[in-house]
Amino acid sequence: MILNDGKAMDMKRKLKSIFCMAIAVAMGLCVSGCDLQKKGDVKTIGLAMPAKSLERWNRDGEYLKKLFEKEGYNVELRYSDNNTDQQVNDIQVLIADDVDVLLIAAVDGSTLFRTLEDAQIKNIPVIAYDRLIMNTDAVDCYVSFDNYSVGEIQGKYVIDALKADETSESYNIELVTGDTADNNAAYFRNGAVDTIKSYLDSGKFKIPSGKIEAEQTATPGWATDIALENMQNTLASYYSDGTKLDAVICSSDVLSIGVVQAIRSDYNGGNMPVITGQDGDIAALKNIVDGNQSMTVYKNVSDEADVAVSVTKAILEGKELNEELKDTFSAECIFDTQSYDNGNKKVLSYLLTPQVITKDNLDELAETGSYKWDEEHKYLEAAS
Ligand code: BGC
Repeated sequence: MILNDGKAMDMKRKLKSIFCMAIAVAMGLCVSGCDLQKKGDVKTIGLAMPAKSLERWNRDGEYLKKLFEKEGYNVELRYSDNNTDQQVNDIQVLIADDVDVLLIAAVDGSTLFRTLEDAQIKNIPVIAYDRLIMNTDAVDCYVSFDNYSVGEIQGKYVIDALKADETSESYNIELVTGDTADNNAAYFRNGAVDTIKSYLDSGKFKIPSGKIEAEQTATPGWATDIALENMQNTLASYYSDGTKLDAVICSSDVLSIGVVQAIRSDYNGGNMPVITGQDGDIAALKNIVDGNQSMTVYKNVSDEADVAVSVTKAILEGKELNEELKDTFSAECIFDTQSYDNGNKKVLSYLLTPQVITKDNLDELAETGSYKWDEEHKYLEAAS
């Protein structure tokens, strides 16, 4: 059929408007469909991390976010500037936002129980990440490393490095431990103290400062500058007469970094003491290369995050948290139902195994993908 020009134009216009309406309806369907999918299917994970400025927690936060997003979850990530009130506030916001699971690395594990009552009311499952949350039933699971073994490894390292079992000498050591508000700090400290106890009892190891109790060795906020200042005071009071310092058991790299600084500026002995750490912070790894720190206990953050994501998925799928579940994780860990009592209950725990890093096996860190060598292949840097 041949249409004259006017009729042809009319027909074209009609066809065009029908076509536009069809597109609009299709788009409308898609928008409401996508909305439905967003509201119904895509779960949101609320992540509360202690502080972005602390290398360890920045690494955890960013890695967890990436991993959850890769698995198709929405993520709300909050850092609390290492401030307890700020974290309470952050968690309240996450609860108000109706996140589907809360994953929390507590600034102070003893201050969250009230806030978490609101999570319980809303049936939001809670995973304590790395640090246990105390005095609450609201915690469903704890994902961490075997914290006691971190201290054991440090104590054992010092015994071996000083060759304490092979000589008749005695050695002077000091302890620098973490914030007592962090439940982990006691595990690290106890692991180390139990390991060296027989050496202290026999007089093989002496602590010239006499600082052995938790409150004497603790470092509020795990703050590097407080560790530095405390070590300077210890050196001024007990070592200025030339007393030799053989080792400092530091629970974490954030502490050893301050301790190394104090020793380099204020210690008169000719030796560099054996110094332990934990985490593989870049500045501590540099100290290890330069001979200022002896070792760090490395806890693979990507493994810890992998386990946390798997546990979250299991909870959201209504699976039981048990021994068998760990066989589905990509990282090896133990399922522990007894060790972590938070005052209200024994919290089901999945615990990973830490590893010793010295200057001889730094390559193992590069192999994790979280670090890379600098151009001279001298120091490790964070892999972007
Ligand atoms: C973590 C350590 C960390 C320390 C200081 C602890 O709870 O387990 O890995 O070194 O906090 O941030």
